[in-house]
Amino acid sequence: MKLEDNNIFEQEVEGLIRDINTSYGYDFSGYSRASIYRRVKRFLTNKNLNSMRDLKIAVFSDPFYFESFLQEITVNVTEMFRDPAFFLSLRKNVLPILSTYPHIKIWDAGCSTGEELFSLAILLQEEGLLERTRIYATDINQKVLKKAKEGIFPANQLAASTSGYYASGGKKEFTSYYISNYGNLKFNSSLIKNVIFYPHNLATDSSFNEFHLILCRNVLIYFTSELQEKVFSLFNGSQVRLGYLALGKKETLSMSEASKSYNIIDKENRIYRKTS
Ligand SMILES: C[S@@+](CC[C@H](N)C(=O)[O-])C[C@H]1O[C@@H](n2cnc3c(N)ncnc32)[C@H](O)[C@@H]1O
Repeated sequence: MKLEDNNIFEQEVEGLIRDINTSYGYDFSGYSRASIYRRVKRFLTNKNLNSMRDLKIAVFSDPFYFESFLQEITVNVTEMFRDPAFFLSLRKNVLPILSTYPHIKIWDAGCSTGEELFSLAILLQEEGLLERTRIYATDINQKVLKKAKEGIFPANQLAASTSGYYASGGKKEFTSYYISNYGNLKFNSSLIKNVIFYPHNLATDSSFNEFHLILCRNVLIYFTSELQEKVFSLFNGSQVRLGYLALGKKETLSMSEASKSYNIIDKENRIYRKTS
């Protein structure tokens, strides 16, 4: 693409972002542009659209088309026990402290199709905490929330999930958590009996409860530093005194204003605890 064409493309994407906010109420203005441009280009190619004009017509005339555009922009890639060291750290450094509380509230923000949520629930069950824990599983995308509720994951990820489970300190046979069914694995629904699934947009929605632990991994990487700052402040306002914030390897509090309110619990896995 020539420089001039690139400028036109970028202006058209800005227009698209504004119009989506007006028509559908999704505000993508705080998403990193590099990622948005890449994803819009990919969507144009995959849908055989010839121009941004065609994309706009399709997206604004058909809500189902917008739905598939939303899937592209929000990046739902996930897996069970992703970065097992992170789950091992939760098990060793966070759950023993939470186990001293009579009731535990956890927010899994940007839970996608539920693999992270089920991994967390398995950890909580093995540490004897699941019964007294309420988890709020939220995502901007209602379609992935629906899938998360079903707890059915493709069997072709089984090898990775199994090794992730044991590397994260798994204490049982991983096979005891699911049944195989036509190329899928259906996980025990009892794992999510205390889970509330809820659409929540980190860019625009406000705080809705106070949590002992907030997990938000592989979500903020798609946001600009301004939007990240806003979300950190939302998390801070959604935590109990001495609450934990678990961001995982890819995101960090260190560059942000919010870091002043937290101590580092695990530097590598970016797990923090509120100072007061
Ligand atoms: C790459 S997935 C990460 C899933 C899981 N946390 C993990 O680490 O495996 C990112 C998720 O963030 C969600 N997301 C993107 N923008 C969001 C927003 N503004 N508010 C809430 N969730 C958002 C996407 O829909 C997607 O499900």
